[in-house]
Amino acid sequence: MVRLVINDRKKMSMISPEIYGHFSEHLGRCIYEGIYVGEDSEIPNVNGMRKDVVEALKEIKIPVLRWPGGCFADEYHWKDGVGPKETRKKMVNTHWGGVVEDNSFGTHEFFELCEQLGCKTYVNGNVGSGTVQEMSEWVEYMTFDGISPMAELRKTNGREKPWKIDYFGVGNENWGCGGNMRPSYYGDLYRRFQTYVRNYDPEKPIAKICGGANVDDYHWTKTVLEVTHDHTLPQFHGFMDGLSLHYYVHPEGWEVKGSATEFDDETWYKTLSKAMYMDTLVTRHGAIMDEYDPDKKIGMIVDEWGCWFNCEPGTNPGFLYQQNTIRDALVAGVTLNIFNKHSDRVKMANLAQVVNVLQAVLLTEGSKMIKTPTYHIFHMYRHHQGAELLESSLSDVTEIGMNDWRVPEITESCSVDANGIITVTLNNLSVSEDNDIEIVLAGGEAVTVEEANIVTGEMHAYNTFEQPDTVLEKRFDRYEIMHKVLKVSMPACSVVELRLKKKA
Ligand code: AHR
Repeated sequence: MVRLVINDRKKMSMISPEIYGHFSEHLGRCIYEGIYVGEDSEIPNVNGMRKDVVEALKEIKIPVLRWPGGCFADEYHWKDGVGPKETRKKMVNTHWGGVVEDNSFGTHEFFELCEQLGCKTYVNGNVGSGTVQEMSEWVEYMTFDGISPMAELRKTNGREKPWKIDYFGVGNENWGCGGNMRPSYYGDLYRRFQTYVRNYDPEKPIAKICGGANVDDYHWTKTVLEVTHDHTLPQFHGFMDGLSLHYYVHPEGWEVKGSATEFDDETWYKTLSKAMYMDTLVTRHGAIMDEYDPDKKIGMIVDEWGCWFNCEPGTNPGFLYQQNTIRDALVAGVTLNIFNKHSDRVKMANLAQVVNVLQAVLLTEGSKMIKTPTYHIFHMYRHHQGAELLESSLSDVTEIGMNDWRVPEITESCSVDANGIITVTLNNLSVSEDNDIEIVLAGGEAVTVEEANIVTGEMHAYNTFEQPDTVLEKRFDRYEIMHKVLKVSMPACSVVELRLKKKA
């Protein structure tokens, strides 16, 4: 039987709440329809933001939201999206479906949304087709509380006080849609552009994110750090706070991708095995970062991750709208456990994307909204936010799978919060087998179970607008405590959360 030993005396690192972050791009129906419907919409809204979506995201304690892209960011000219809406420029969204972008959601609307959500802000600047001046003026517009041309423009547009930018991305995927650059060239551009991302308020410093690698492009990570690392020394504090990494799971590869809802057992294991690859990526990129930043001052920012399948039949292929099954729930479960385990280095991660695009937590259709299986994983795992990762290890774990696609049958992560409650999140990756797990504390103390929840179902199960409750988070009771050992019986294809209290 699998055994999990938790050493609650050994706190490893704080799990940054931002690991549970999200991403919203001007892509398909993410911003428009999914989040923003406009003040005059019949869909209930506050200042144009859908009430149902805001409420649902607050329930998972959304910690941070990235905007406006993605590839869109390197074509976005922020001045098009401020001022009276009727005079805002209409343009074509060349990356995503060639549709009209009317710029009715811009800077003011993004900060309004984050205020409603109560989350941190992550604004991604334009390096690919923008200028240093444009980026620098945007930062001035958003954050300067004095007399200056951009602060005056902001006031003219109805906002007296500046906002707070928590994170600022200096370009996106600069090796691809963000300019097709080589790493040494981007490294130099990073040095230059970030110089003008001014910290106008020293009390509210902006964390600057450098554009990082695609998947296993270790050469990118190494070269960018080589070109910039003389400035990552302590006297240049504030030069680089994060380095990004993007990784999507495509079961059949980038070209073919694969169906979101129709797959066989082998594809289940292939998908999960590719999701587990995140551990290798974080470890290996992290080892390169350790060479240049041994004190781990620069966070690894996995600001795009998740499943990327074929879009739903009959939908605009440029909109990247896909369904979300129990398989997505398992991908989310194992990936978030990986991030927790690497929380000494991974400081933020942003699932792509928050509504109606790729592995979304919410889907909308007109006035209807449904929560996907992935949503329920973020809801269970919210208890890890800001908690301390605990040392924990599994033994007697069998490798399972089909053909070349092998995964551990169980994965886990454990944390303890400020009230001493231990959160354990477990994944049973088997498509067919239940699994029993014995859980003990390293010190041998007994525990009580304060709360236990589960998300499970047949591997293809998903929610629709007609049947929104097929996959839900439910109370879990398949456990017993015998002689200080907690025995948990997990069904196949399941994610379980346990909240434990040590007996005095
Ligand atoms: O999330 C969709 C796209 O994937 C983003 O715009 C881009 O950064 C990545 O290639």
